[in-house]
Amino acid sequence: MMASMLALINEGDEVVVFEPFYENYGPDSAVSGAVPRFVPLNDDNSIDEEALVSAFNKKTRALILNTPNNPCGKVFTANELKLITELCVDHDIIAVTDEIYEYILYDNKKHISIGSLDEMKDRTITISGFSKTYSVTGWRIGYALAGKNLTSAIRKVHDFLTVGAPAPLQHACVTALGFPDSYYEELVRMYDGKRKLLYKALIKAGFKCRLPEGAYYILADIPEGTGMDDMAFAKYMVGEIGVAAVPGSSFYKSEAGKHKFRFTFSKKDETLMEAALRLEKLEV
Ligand SMILES: Cc1ncc(COP(=O)(O)O)c(C=O)c1O
Repeated sequence: MMASMLALINEGDEVVVFEPFYENYGPDSAVSGAVPRFVPLNDDNSIDEEALVSAFNKKTRALILNTPNNPCGKVFTANELKLITELCVDHDIIAVTDEIYEYILYDNKKHISIGSLDEMKDRTITISGFSKTYSVTGWRIGYALAGKNLTSAIRKVHDFLTVGAPAPLQHACVTALGFPDSYYEELVRMYDGKRKLLYKALIKAGFKCRLPEGAYYILADIPEGTGMDDMAFAKYMVGEIGVAAVPGSSFYKSEAGKHKFRFTFSKKDETLMEAALRLEKLEV
C-alpha cells in the first residue's frame, strides 16, 4: 500500500478515508505527502452520502477502500460501491483498496472488488495479502493489481522500498493459492464460531456491539457506567480484568473513538473462553 500511495500521490493531494479506519492509512497518507479527509460512517456502518460527497474536491486524488473493514467488520455493498464509483469517475479519482479480509465473510455476505467494476478497472489499485487468509500475519506478503498506467510507478517505488518480498515465502504463498475451496469454507466456519463466542461474551458483560459482517474484530462501545475513556479503560481491562484489546482512538480521527474498544477473535477457543470468564468480573 505504501508503494502505491507514494507512486500515486503528489504533495498536497487529498485522500478520502472512511472512519473508523485501519490505523496505517493516516500515516500512509502523511508519508506520501497527502492530506487525509476522514468520512465517518453512520452508526449502523452505512455510508453517510452527504459527508462522502462533500469530502471530494479539486485536490482529491484517491480514496482508500477497506472491505471487509478493520475495525468495524463492515462489508461494503454493491450499491455503496456504485456510489463510490460514480464519485471516483466524476472527480477522476483512483480507488486504493485494502481487501486483506476478502475471504473472511459471514452470513453469506459477498465480497466485491471495486476494481472488478467496468468503470473502475483503470482507476483502481486492488491490494490484498496473505497474512489473514492463510494465518501468516508475520510474513507481510501482499500484492497490488492495477493497470499498466499505474503499475509502472508502483513497481519502481516498491523496488526502492523493499527490493522484493522474501523469495521462499513467495513460493509458499503460491502453494497456498492452490488450496481447494474447502480451505476457505473451513476458515469461515472457524471464525464464525469464534465470532459468536466473543459476541455473546461481550453482550453478557454489558458491551453494546454488532456482529461483524467480515474480518475478525468486534468494535464495541465502552459501557457508559465505567465513566472511562478508551485509554483509561484499556489500562483497567488489562490490569484488573486481564483482557487486552485496542483503544478506539487508534481507528478514529474524531472523538468517537474515545468511547470505543476493539476486540479480536483471532484467538484459540480456549483463550476466548477464558476471556469470557474474565469479562464476567467487569462491573458496569
Ligand atoms: C486492514 C488491514 N490491512 C493490512 C494489514 C496488514 O497487512 P500485512 O500483514 O500484509 O502487513 C492489516 C493487519 O492488521 C489490516 O487489518
